Amino acid sequence: MKIISIINQKGGVGKTTTVINLASALSQQGKKILVIDLDPQGNATTGLGLSNTEQSDQTIYGILNGTMSITKVIKKTKFENLDVITSNVDLSGLEVETAGDNDRAFILKSKLTAYLNDSRALYDYILIDCPPSLSLLTVMALVSSNSLLVPLQTEFFALEGLTQLMKTIDRIKVNLNPNLNIQGILLTMYDRRNKLSSQVEEEARNYFKEKVYQTVIPRNVRLSEAPSHGVPVLVYDKNCPGSKSYYSFTDEFINQENNLGSAA
Ligand SMILES: Nc1ncnc2c1ncn2[C@@H]1O[C@H](COP(=O)(O)OP(=O)(O)O)[C@@H](O)[C@H]1O
Ligand SMILES: [Mg+2]
Repeated sequence: MKIISIINQKGGVGKTTTVINLASALSQQGKKILVIDLDPQGNATTGLGLSNTEQSDQTIYGILNGTMSITKVIKKTKFENLDVITSNVDLSGLEVETAGDNDRAFILKSKLTAYLNDSRALYDYILIDCPPSLSLLTVMALVSSNSLLVPLQTEFFALEGLTQLMKTIDRIKVNLNPNLNIQGILLTMYDRRNKLSSQVEEEARNYFKEKVYQTVIPRNVRLSEAPSHGVPVLVYDKNCPGSKSYYSFTDEFINQENNLGSAA
């Protein structure tokens, strides 16, 4: 069982899209997946066909404020092997509400640890969809995770934001989670006709080397249409370029996991 956060403090870079489609592709291959929506916007929730206007104790908020246990809040999606802990807008109040709690960065980790100790380890992967900030919620995800997947939009300023993120990750490693790894960087919204896309790609590959996945996710309108239907693009249109790219990314991910496993 591995906990992976999909993280980037910039909004609109493809975090949620990557969570939904990696989760979907892995679950289609028989892996058991739990998605935790840790963004008050609840986009992963609705993108997987669930409601983000549920009573808040039935969401990740209920877990983090201590009124609910994880087991009670996990919901099934209509897709086999794919469960979700939903989110709603109340989650945005958590930071203020826990202001007096010195250990609040560890709330999610301790809930997950308790859950994993109690239950008969049901999942192969837990994927956490992070909010677009470096706030408490993101720190909670960083503290709880084994590794991080960073979607990087191939646009100007993308790498500057990444430098800031890497500094935060280093701080968390020193102070709160020494075993945290960067699983990889996924280039997203690639536009073949735009010179900037290939420039950002080149810079990212020069700097982060083999951490950058070979697969690049193209800009593809089908990827932006799928969420309004409450399904992953792999279900909405499995042959579109966006789907092909997420399948290919998932293959790369699985190979990487197999190699990590055999090296261990
Ligand atoms: N490769 C892509 N091509 C076209 N649209 C995309 C692509 N990836 C994401 N989108 C769309 O862009 C918007 C932001 O993506 P999203 O995954 O929600 O980003 P984040 O979670 O980082 O804020 C959404 O409307 C999404 O449907
Ligand atoms: Mg998102």
